[in-house]
Amino acid sequence: MLFKKNKRVQNNERPGLVVVNKPTSVVSEQFRTIRTNIQFSMVDETLKSIVVTSAGPSSGKSTVSANLAVTFASEDKKILLVDADLRKPTVHKTFNIKNIDGLTKLLTDKETKIENTIYRTHTEGLYLLTSGAIPPNPAELLSSKRMTSIINEMYKYFDMVIFDMPPVLAVTDAQIMASKADGVLFIIPKGEVSKEQMIKSKELLVNVKANILGAVLNKVEKSDDNYYYYYGE
Ligand SMILES: Nc1ncnc2c1ncn2[C@@H]1O[C@H](COP(=O)(O)OP(=O)(O)OP(=O)(O)O)[C@@H](O)[C@H]1O
Ligand SMILES: [Mg+2]
Repeated sequence: MLFKKNKRVQNNERPGLVVVNKPTSVVSEQFRTIRTNIQFSMVDETLKSIVVTSAGPSSGKSTVSANLAVTFASEDKKILLVDADLRKPTVHKTFNIKNIDGLTKLLTDKETKIENTIYRTHTEGLYLLTSGAIPPNPAELLSSKRMTSIINEMYKYFDMVIFDMPPVLAVTDAQIMASKADGVLFIIPKGEVSKEQMIKSKELLVNVKANILGAVLNKVEKSDDNYYYYYGE
């Protein structure tokens, strides 16, 4: 299919996109390990969508979702990264693109077509949907029937959809999307989250019958590099 916004956007040189800028680095290798672990976590069913969340803010959710989306994308695997953090969206910043239409436009304007809102990127197989304008009612929009039908439409065009979400303890958005998606990846910034916060987060996700695929331990210091570790459930 042809996406209208098919001017290919340049993956920008932001340090956050390490798998683009330093594909042979240890961190990039870590992302490939995370990809493999996620693939193995769903052997019997195909994993069509992943929600990325954490307990609190600034955990690395957006950094991990963007790098993971790049890592999953390939010539024969089309990946869509969706900025479903309708409160603090950053995908457009990471990829240096305009955030004009995006998800909220799709949700609120029935005339808007998915193919007119999605960007292609320089990474083969990687596509982006920005958040669009910040709405007053993100949770309501994400829990709508329209959102479910948009997700189903995404499945028609893409092999996998990755949703970058707000933290689960702050607002219900991640819970809502966790109940709609096939799996949840939980980001834990080392030393920044208490055991109680992690237990509460897991409880909230289990309550909506989320399929927790595993957790990524982020911000692990190791000499001059930053490491990511993946733990299966
Ligand atoms: N492994 C890491 N090492 C060092 N810095 C990191 C790492 N992961 C993320 N960061 C930095 O931490 C900050 C927060 O990261 P990011 O925006 O990905 O978090 P977030 O969980 O999406 O935040 P928010 O809750 O605001 O959506 C950014 O400045 C990012 O560059
Ligand atoms: Mg974020």
